[in-house]
Amino acid sequence: MSNNILLGISGSVACSKTELLVSTYSKNFNFKILSTFNGLNYISDKFIEEYKPLSDWSDLKGSPHIELARWADIFLIYPASANLISKLANGIADDLLTSTYLMYKNPVYIAPAMHEEMYLNPVIQNNVSKLSTKNLIIGPRFGSLDIGDKGLGRLIEPDEVFNIITKSKDKIIVTSGPTTEKIDDVKVISNTSSGKQGRAIAIELLARGYEVIYVHSSNIEPLPHAKNKAFSDSKALFNIIEKESIDSKYLFMTAAVSDFIINKSSGKISRDNGPFNLTLNPNIDVVKAIKEKNENLITIGFSAQVNNELNFEKLKYKNIDFLVINNILDNPFGSKNNKIYLIDKDKLLIESGTHDKNEIANLIIDTIIK
Ligand SMILES: Cc1cc2nc3c(=O)[nH]c(=O)nc-3n(C[C@H](O)[C@H](O)[C@H](O)COP(=O)(O)O)c2cc1C
Repeated sequence: MSNNILLGISGSVACSKTELLVSTYSKNFNFKILSTFNGLNYISDKFIEEYKPLSDWSDLKGSPHIELARWADIFLIYPASANLISKLANGIADDLLTSTYLMYKNPVYIAPAMHEEMYLNPVIQNNVSKLSTKNLIIGPRFGSLDIGDKGLGRLIEPDEVFNIITKSKDKIIVTSGPTTEKIDDVKVISNTSSGKQGRAIAIELLARGYEVIYVHSSNIEPLPHAKNKAFSDSKALFNIIEKESIDSKYLFMTAAVSDFIINKSSGKISRDNGPFNLTLNPNIDVVKAIKEKNENLITIGFSAQVNNELNFEKLKYKNIDFLVINNILDNPFGSKNNKIYLIDKDKLLIESGTHDKNEIANLIIDTIIK
């Protein structure tokens, strides 16, 4: 049984959750706790008194970074500040916690916590991405932050951490953004999907510890700690999903796939040749074709409509498990907010209010993944 947990703490207001985590789980696990010097300012005197977090080399004799790294079955950093993430990503070892990290051979669970602006800063995104090649980044998620703000940067909850540590999680594919079909080597047809709803779903699934394959348009940023696969046209999208779906449990088909494909001309069609007729051939129904190949894949389709019709016929035709409907006249492509209807084969499961797409993502996942 993996009972020895080495817990790292850094300077974040979210440290109150660290105290809750330790007091809840110390019955089942042996904790040894390391803190950055700043981290000590965010935990209570009572906690320091009871659990004696180590921060200074002089706190222990010998070579504690070696002994602690070898003692730990699990190494969890909760919360990880922007500063600590950057140090770890760049091999800085100027205290006990960062030196022990460098000594530790196995993947570390790292739970970032910070304000959204800090988290989305390209330097931090890049450092999270670097860390994710060796470690398991858990969260952050969208929710309440310091000074009453809301955003992406909230530390995941203690029980979720243990859910992730103790249970292996399913693999899930989330597609996001528009396809782009080439007319010639220069021109394309595409659509105005922003990919925001798919991205929000992928972020929330990552925060819950799932292995997420984020299949995104090549013009959309990858996610730092997902397995990212970029596509441009609908054929490339189909090929990626077909390959990844073999061992996946769910497919969230949020990408906006072109209804039509084109016989691409080579070179550049010039206006000098006068009017030009473009033949748009109906595309295959990508989600229907995938589901036909892999019946066990729990498949969630997304339907951008100009009305609120609960399109049970569409769901049945595609033979998928769930359909999320949104009215693009109310919330056009690119909106921050969304309002959805979620149906299965028989009934309406949710009619949401108008909420931030991250909150809608939570609602969809809570309903579909029990
Ligand atoms: C009230 C307060 C709350 C803070 N919360 C966070 C936070 O949640 N995440 C973060 O990355 N930095 C936060 N900071 C800034 C860090 O404490 C600061 O970057 C510090 O240098 C981190 O040190 P450490 O990484 O060595 O623990 C906060 C600062 C203050 C004053």
